[in-house]
Amino acid sequence: MKKTVVFYTAMAFSLAVSAQNKLVVNADQGKEIISKHIYGHFSEHLGHCIYGGYWVGEDSPIPNTRGIRNDVVNALKDIQVPNLRWPGGCFADEYHWMDGIGQRDKRPKMVNTHWGGVVEDNSFGTHEFLDLCEQLGCEPYICGNVGSGTVEEMSKWVEYITFDGESPMANLRKQNGREKPWKVKFWGVGNENWGCGGNMTADFYADQYRRYATYCRNYGDNHLYRIAGGANGGDYYWTETLMKNAAGLMQGLSLHHYTLPTNDWSNKGSATQFDEAEYFTTISKTFVMDELISKHATIMDKYDPQKRVGLMPDEWGAWYNVEPGTNPGFLFQQNTLRDAILAAINLNIFNAHADRVKMTNIAQTINVLQAVIFTEGEKMLLTPTYWTYYLYKVHQDATLLPISFSCNKYELNGRKIDAISVSASKDAAGKIHLTLVNIDPNREQVIAPELRGVTLKTVSGKVLTAAKINSYNTYEQPNTVAVKDFKGAKLTKGALSVTLPAKSVVMLELE
Ligand code: AHR
Repeated sequence: MKKTVVFYTAMAFSLAVSAQNKLVVNADQGKEIISKHIYGHFSEHLGHCIYGGYWVGEDSPIPNTRGIRNDVVNALKDIQVPNLRWPGGCFADEYHWMDGIGQRDKRPKMVNTHWGGVVEDNSFGTHEFLDLCEQLGCEPYICGNVGSGTVEEMSKWVEYITFDGESPMANLRKQNGREKPWKVKFWGVGNENWGCGGNMTADFYADQYRRYATYCRNYGDNHLYRIAGGANGGDYYWTETLMKNAAGLMQGLSLHHYTLPTNDWSNKGSATQFDEAEYFTTISKTFVMDELISKHATIMDKYDPQKRVGLMPDEWGAWYNVEPGTNPGFLFQQNTLRDAILAAINLNIFNAHADRVKMTNIAQTINVLQAVIFTEGEKMLLTPTYWTYYLYKVHQDATLLPISFSCNKYELNGRKIDAISVSASKDAAGKIHLTLVNIDPNREQVIAPELRGVTLKTVSGKVLTAAKINSYNTYEQPNTVAVKDFKGAKLTKGALSVTLPAKSVVMLELE
């Protein structure tokens, strides 16, 4: 009798959590490619992102190749970083690239006024950055200086890097040891020019953009993908103005949006000390990305119905208070399972908008904001967010599969959000990948995805979860939040059934 009661109770619970979860994947359809550049990263001269993060110098006892850490390069290659945005951020509009070329000990020093007022010795400059990108096998994305620079300075930077022939800048590059030009397609024309990049109005910046973009030349077969500095979150007037006045001169338009647990920049919330209510708020706020992209894309559609211009959220991620005792200008914050979930939701959103979103860059790769890697001296640590990128690399350049989806709600204190976020794609080899996030920290979710147009033979998967939503990795315990093989998916006569653990990110591979 007792056994029977237990059975019915368990069944009732299981029904309750699976009742609304419905997913149909049209596996024989799909036309949009999920650009691999959606999985891009952003690294600024800020705190210990560049110095100590990538760059230790050739004489360092930390194993390096021409001054760049080998451990970091290997870890980033494992997540297939497709592009890297540099040198900022706000730093980009104060950066004068000529200070960062030539013999290192002769390079002028400057003050990094935005980020801690520290001395920038320019030891990591253009050649070092492009060497880093070659070591990573990724495409460089360089942001030019519009705020305090000149059209001539940016134009010469493009010439220095990409011109193959006789010219003052190409000759200077050769003198500095690089005979052949590099290929650099992605160029940002300023950063946050509505704010730290010059406090410009939309109309003024649109005109500036036209000037700068004109003098960023295509040399040989290096065809530039010029990216205009885009809106701050929901500033739709900015997008409207840029599209109306300058769409013809751009290939991309950026968008910046960070997720803060609070609405208060002076007290954003702690990266680790938060309760379930704060978790709920943070996650519900991150879903705003979907609305932002939809609304900016609608404006872009008006001026660019062919969707030629890419929307590029080239700064996004979670932004919390700095860790107590650290330099407030260095933006160092811990990274928990909440961040892995937040990243996974955003990446699913970007995939869903693959028709318009052609690149994104999480801020920032190492030791800053929502980092994927921490370093401390010779030690390196992979964060929970790193593991989300590890799971999601399967979507890079795959075909987005159309889905029909509805799910249970995760409810707290009378507020409700979707309990599950999902994305589906098919890669060049015909393998189907689903990435599923169970946002609910308390209940597992059962879902039986119906895959139309294919006969499934095998399923395997990986899962990322931990004991608590604020679990994080430390140098002493680096695997508190790490990927494991997933045993919660079953194929029975071709029918798939999945049990997603509470607060987890799951990647399934189906053949
Ligand atoms: O990523 C940190 C800063 O946030 C960037 O420098 C700036 O572009 C944004 O405001």
